[in-house]
Amino acid sequence: MDQFLTVAREAAHQAGALLRAHWLQPKTIETKTDIVDLVTNVDKAADALITGILHTRFPTHQVIAEESAVSGQESPYRWYIDPLDGTTNFVHGFPHCAVSIALAHESRMIVGMVYDPLRDETFCACRGQGATLNGNPIRVSSAPTLDQALVLTGFPYDRRQRSEFYLRFYQAFMVRTQGVRRSGSAALDLCYVACGRADAFWEWRLHPWDTAAGSLIVEEAGGKVSNFSGEHFDVTGEQTLASNGAIHAHMLEVLQEVMTVDPDERTLARTVYRE
Ligand code: IPD
Ligand code: CA
Ligand code: CA
Repeated sequence: MDQFLTVAREAAHQAGALLRAHWLQPKTIETKTDIVDLVTNVDKAADALITGILHTRFPTHQVIAEESAVSGQESPYRWYIDPLDGTTNFVHGFPHCAVSIALAHESRMIVGMVYDPLRDETFCACRGQGATLNGNPIRVSSAPTLDQALVLTGFPYDRRQRSEFYLRFYQAFMVRTQGVRRSGSAALDLCYVACGRADAFWEWRLHPWDTAAGSLIVEEAGGKVSNFSGEHFDVTGEQTLASNGAIHAHMLEVLQEVMTVDPDERTLARTVYRE
């Protein structure tokens, strides 16, 4: 396990140094699935750097990276890489982004590493060994109710087509919590729940590279991660709910309530999200 952790940390820090070197520098910007889905030359360079390190150090492992898809042979060991989580922030010079690296063995996440290069914060977890921030153990908050909670969310890249649907969830939490924040980096959102800076996070339609590392970090910090029905969290699924555990049932109640208010919309959600 130690060698996996060492290599993950080394790759995250090297990619983080690259992001720092390009911070506020001119970049090449392209769009992907939608005009709000951006990718820069820096995303691609960081992706190539991390993928290269992992393939050199673990030639039999498979790597699933956001900007270079799947590489390497089939293997029980699979790395999930988001070389730059928070690309829109990065493009605009809004200082909140991260490198996210996770290792799964079979279907279990065993290593999670999220590095914020602008604050020099390394969030890290190994299954069964707890979670740390810059080497110090972290724990989720103890907020017992939504009334006392600060919650985080994000909106996927089909948000222009589905804004009403996503905003219903936002509104439901806006009137029940102390505040809702949209930071622009799902990997950091999960880590902020893990270290108690926020009490819960929900988002539709994230990808495995967004959540693989952060979900393990939340669990190892004593929190809970599930889908919106409270079932087992699957990194390839469409629903991510993470919390301090204490308010998990309350979060689920609200999510379920919003989804059942309008049965047609619920059907629509199912159709859209199973495409
Ligand atoms: C995005 C960020 C954002 C979330 C989006 C993600 P990217 O990742 O995590 O917070 O709301 O759904 O796609 O594109 O910056 O790597
Ligand atoms: Ca991402
Ligand atoms: Ca990304």
